[in-house]
Amino acid sequence: MIKAVQVNKSFRVGEQEMMVLKGLDFSVNKGEFVAIMGPSGSGKSTLLQLLGGLDVPTAGEIQIDSTAINRLNEKERTIFRRRNIGFVFQNYQLLPTMTVEENVAFPLRANGEMLHTSREKANQYLEAVGLAKMGQRFPNVLSGGQQQRVAVARALVNEPKLLLADEPTGNLDRKMAEEILELLSHFHEHNRQTIVMVTHDIFAAGYADRIVLFKDGVIETEVNREDEDYARFVAHFMA
Ligand SMILES: Nc1ncnc2c1ncn2[C@@H]1O[C@H](COP(=O)(O)OP(=O)(O)OP(=O)(O)O)[C@@H](O)[C@H]1O
Ligand SMILES: [Mg+2]
Repeated sequence: MIKAVQVNKSFRVGEQEMMVLKGLDFSVNKGEFVAIMGPSGSGKSTLLQLLGGLDVPTAGEIQIDSTAINRLNEKERTIFRRRNIGFVFQNYQLLPTMTVEENVAFPLRANGEMLHTSREKANQYLEAVGLAKMGQRFPNVLSGGQQQRVAVARALVNEPKLLLADEPTGNLDRKMAEEILELLSHFHEHNRQTIVMVTHDIFAAGYADRIVLFKDGVIETEVNREDEDYARFVAHFMA
């Protein structure tokens, strides 16, 4: 359902053209939870940006269900993104001048939903992430883990086809990271939420159905939870 086909992405840095993704083929099934790992600079965040329609490939195609998002113009892409993609970032990226409830309701308001239905849905999602009573507070009084829960609620409130998470536990201690990962797993299992998560942490990647290892802009290897060599793959990273 989500597909990157022969995707190239290059950036111009001064005189040089730097090729970050090199003929990448990658696909994610509906309802799958995929973790992407790999060295710094290997193109993981770049791929998420392309899957989420925040940027376009230099060549190749990005398909989200039946839509080739690389063929949309910028305005169409923005609308598609607002309706279909949820993002969670390492640094939460909540809007500091808005309450928690307003932050979560924001994507709904941006899609033209009425204030009271937006607030209602926002509060449903706040409850789902365990923050039912926090709606009227401002993000800066929340812990990092709580802020990331708000970010998860905001990312999911639109019931997106695809949730993209770029190192969502990168700023959190182990306990808070576990809470966020449990939460993502919950939405994956109960709502069949499709998730692509970039992480440097094999412990976090262990929550996914499949772990994809990036190197120099292509997939070096990947392993499914059911594969015989899954345990060996994971142990290699623990060492
Ligand atoms: N907008 C841009 N302009 C120029 N170069 C860029 C841009 N975005 C990314 N790059 C370069 O592309 C390469 C891949 O970056 P990317 O952020 O995708 O790596 P990453 O795998 O997410 O790394 P990390 O694990 O450190 O987050 C890097 O060398 C980066 O400097
Ligand atoms: Mg990155």
